[in-house]
Amino acid sequence: MQLQTLTSLLFATASVFSQSAKAQDTSCAPGNVGDWFSMAVYPQIHNATYDSTFDMDYYSQQQMPWIYSLFKPFGMKGYTITVLERTAPYSVLTLMYFSTAEQFQEALAAHGDEIFARVPLFSSEFPPHYIGEVTNTTI
Ligand SMILES: *[C@@H]1O[C@H](CO)[C@@H](O)[C@H](O)[C@H]1NC(C)=O
Repeated sequence: MQLQTLTSLLFATASVFSQSAKAQDTSCAPGNVGDWFSMAVYPQIHNATYDSTFDMDYYSQQQMPWIYSLFKPFGMKGYTITVLERTAPYSVLTLMYFSTAEQFQEALAAHGDEIFARVPLFSSEFPPHYIGEVTNTTI
């Protein structure tokens, strides 16, 4: 199963990084140095015979608020949705912030299947996703 491979890959990556993860004050704003994030990117392909589709209204008003409600109890601090230009390889880039990589792993383990099951409701493409740590910010 593609999803299982992706998930185990993600966990393997997460455990490599987890040694340097440190607990942060969850009351601070998302995206601070030391926070961890999950990045989901939605591929876009536009050519003579194929056009990727993405329903931003559904995604921003239904899917992401729903994910936030599921992940908040695990420590999710907030998220940003970014729309990329049509020539980029991805149409949408979403960052979901947590204090630690483990919080995201636990949230995904609990709710990943039901979340990915809804992707076809708004996107023609399945989103690869990666985790990372905020290392510097001026915001
Ligand atoms: C358009 O993209 C689709 C999906 O990747 C691909 O299967 C198809 O070969 C492409 N067609 C052209 C004309 O490039």
